[in-house]
Amino acid sequence: MLSRRQFLTLAAIATATAACGQGPTSSTPSPGPANPLRIPPLLQAGADGRFTLTMKAGTTEFVAGKPAPTWGFNGSYLGPTIRARRGDRIRMRVVNELDEPTTVHWHGMRLPAKMDGGPHQMIPAGGEWTPEWTIDQPAATSWYHPHPHGETARHVYRGLAGMFLLDDDDDKDEAAGAGLPGEYGVDDIPLVIQDRVIGDDGTLVEDPVATWGLMGDRILVNGTLDAAFQVTRPAIRFRLLNGSNARKYNIGFADGRAFHVVGGDAGLLRAPVQVTRVSLTPGERIEIVATFKAGEQALLRSFAGDLDLDDREFDLLRLDAAPGLEPAAALPATLSDRPAIEVPAGAKVRRFTLNGSDAINGQEMDMTRIDEVVPAGAVEIWEIVNTVYAHNFHIHEVEFAVLDVDGAKPEPYLAGPKDTVYVPPKATVRLAVRFGEFVDPATPYMYHCHILRHEDEGMMGQFVIVTPGTEAQVNRTLPATHQHA
Ligand code: C2O
Ligand code: CU
Ligand code: CU
Repeated sequence: MLSRRQFLTLAAIATATAACGQGPTSSTPSPGPANPLRIPPLLQAGADGRFTLTMKAGTTEFVAGKPAPTWGFNGSYLGPTIRARRGDRIRMRVVNELDEPTTVHWHGMRLPAKMDGGPHQMIPAGGEWTPEWTIDQPAATSWYHPHPHGETARHVYRGLAGMFLLDDDDDKDEAAGAGLPGEYGVDDIPLVIQDRVIGDDGTLVEDPVATWGLMGDRILVNGTLDAAFQVTRPAIRFRLLNGSNARKYNIGFADGRAFHVVGGDAGLLRAPVQVTRVSLTPGERIEIVATFKAGEQALLRSFAGDLDLDDREFDLLRLDAAPGLEPAAALPATLSDRPAIEVPAGAKVRRFTLNGSDAINGQEMDMTRIDEVVPAGAVEIWEIVNTVYAHNFHIHEVEFAVLDVDGAKPEPYLAGPKDTVYVPPKATVRLAVRFGEFVDPATPYMYHCHILRHEDEGMMGQFVIVTPGTEAQVNRTLPATHQHA
């Protein structure tokens, strides 16, 4: 690590260079004040073999000297990064020290429905929850956040979210050798991107905007306002997570440089895809690798885009490259050899029409209603049909490939593997969805729009996975007081 003085010197050199007019003026990074990017600590399991996450209220100084009331896991805002490897047995202990009930959902994790942390796995105020499961999926960038029905937007906005990274020796992650950058906090960097309204007193303003819910005009990256990161390796893997309630980002570099996408929501791409921009809607993750030259300064930016979701221009992260960086090594040509999802002839097709901002197929979410029954291990086509507003669509427990958007193939980096997809206004998105094998006819998984206000207002449905051939026997009505231990 560079000392603070070395860092300031570097920043001064980079600023002077920028001010001398080298490089196009339109892409000159702003030399304004920057705060060191916070890197969430890696969570270690305790002596009891469990990862403990404690949700509690606290205060966070987004603006120095102006503490804001916030919520966090094991801290005052966001949570630690959990990192596990395929085959690991995960034992969690989730403690709720808030004064209201909530849940913690493992977004992107393939696990039994009772461990999923959706709205049926409520943790009462003062209570705790101890789910366990075995990691059995490829390397991926997953995350965790609350999911109490009707309250998710508020709980996430206050700060409850964290990263959950999965490694797999079969993929080209660091442990596999000659792979992708994988040293956490050094060249493997989580970026939790969130928009917030920050009042003059430094606090988070919770007034929702009509239709979309909470949308902000300030950007936090890992809870840091005006963040800067010191680049000490020539190639950096950024794990981008849109942890915002509603905002969509169009992310690239201010100078237009190309970079590579190496992973989507549900794991690594088969091969790197070179791009200059990526689109990221709430809940989605994209892993990119960008390269830097010695001593340069770069700026990761979100560009203005669709007006549908009020995409505006925001600077996300300033990057200050150390002097003396070697040229970056080439990326591996193959990142993953997981088989592509094959859609069997005659695959079942289900259609989900997104109505307004609060219903799917004409119905609002009902905790007591099982909407869909899926046989274990199925591959199905899910057609998501949008009507008015922009939305996105997330399915728990699965991975999917995006077959087409209004009949056109998606950009290669958006084809999958994914678990959350942007659905533009009036568009139809077709997904090839691979379901898991954990059967439980009485505990549903969720599918929903990940614009949190829409999810809270009812743009969500429930499905169960059952032993093939038993679909007709499922009781489609759950008791109103249904609570799983
Ligand atoms: Cu990230 Cu059902 O959610
Ligand atoms: Cu999820
Ligand atoms: Cu929506």
